[in-house]
Amino acid sequence: MSIENRVDTGDSAVHYDTSPRLFELLLDKNMNYSSGFYANGDETLDQAQILKMDRVAAICGFQPGQTLLDMGCGWSGPARYFAEYYQMNVIGYTLSDVQRDFAMAKAKQRGIADRLDIRVCSVLDAELEDESVDHVIFFESIIHMWEKLDLFKACYKALRPSGMLFVQESNYDRNSNTDKFRKDRGFQLVDEVFGNTATMVSTGEMMRLMEEAEFLPCYTENISNHYKTTLAQWCDRIDQHSEEMAALEPEFFPGLRKYLMMALATYRLEGTLCHMTAGQKTPNNWKLHAPLR
Ligand SMILES: C[S@@+](CC[C@H](N)C(=O)[O-])C[C@H]1O[C@@H](n2cnc3c(N)ncnc32)[C@H](O)[C@@H]1O
Repeated sequence: MSIENRVDTGDSAVHYDTSPRLFELLLDKNMNYSSGFYANGDETLDQAQILKMDRVAAICGFQPGQTLLDMGCGWSGPARYFAEYYQMNVIGYTLSDVQRDFAMAKAKQRGIADRLDIRVCSVLDAELEDESVDHVIFFESIIHMWEKLDLFKACYKALRPSGMLFVQESNYDRNSNTDKFRKDRGFQLVDEVFGNTATMVSTGEMMRLMEEAEFLPCYTENISNHYKTTLAQWCDRIDQHSEEMAALEPEFFPGLRKYLMMALATYRLEGTLCHMTAGQKTPNNWKLHAPLR
């Protein structure tokens, strides 16, 4: 895919090219930088991240041998998990060499490097053959991208019939609030630490964009409470490891800490929500996949 008319999405490399050790101290053992899922509410961060990935696999119907595109794969916690535990062939895109090197070293240790292909390339430049993949996931990466509709259209072409497009993302409660938030100075500060977030939309808008790209909407779930707990557990880990984290990245760490505390506050005040949303490419036989609840 090559997306024209693209918008400068800010410098998210500032956030993702930092020391992986910093994020090992912050995140779960798989290095997922996105919300977990708490079935009972008392799970650890490690358990919640595994429950999230198993839930997504059930919603989409992941099968061994299928090809999965992970758009904005981070340190590849999800990509490595699906390659190892679901025996999928996973192609991940990130903008960061540091993240790719980290992911491939871990994959070699686990003996799954032949099922994982991490590409340092913007998803806007991803070269994808038509009908070559079974599923596409965006776990909290599409917030960095303005070109959602063009990306969804490109995903539609790349997916085989019945293939699933799955997006987990923070969003506004209603799309009419978008301008209000975009002009807010607090959001401008978040952009400096995290890279562009001004592209955030409501989940209704995310679904509308999927429909525009010809996907059949088939799943949505509000996981805002799960993100509150994830953020609270990340902030607890910051409290536990703040000295080591500050020593590793003295300039970056104070901004990261403020950003995560602010994110937790906006989630607690319900100014920001998080949804899982999925659409399916028109199946050849029109038997829709029924997601598990
Ligand atoms: C919040 S992290 C989420 C990482 C991962 N999906 C997870 O759940 O652990 C967002 C990721 O999106 C990536 N990203 C942002 N813009 C991108 C682009 N245009 N192309 C590829 N990756 C991008 C960043 O490099 C980062 O790895």
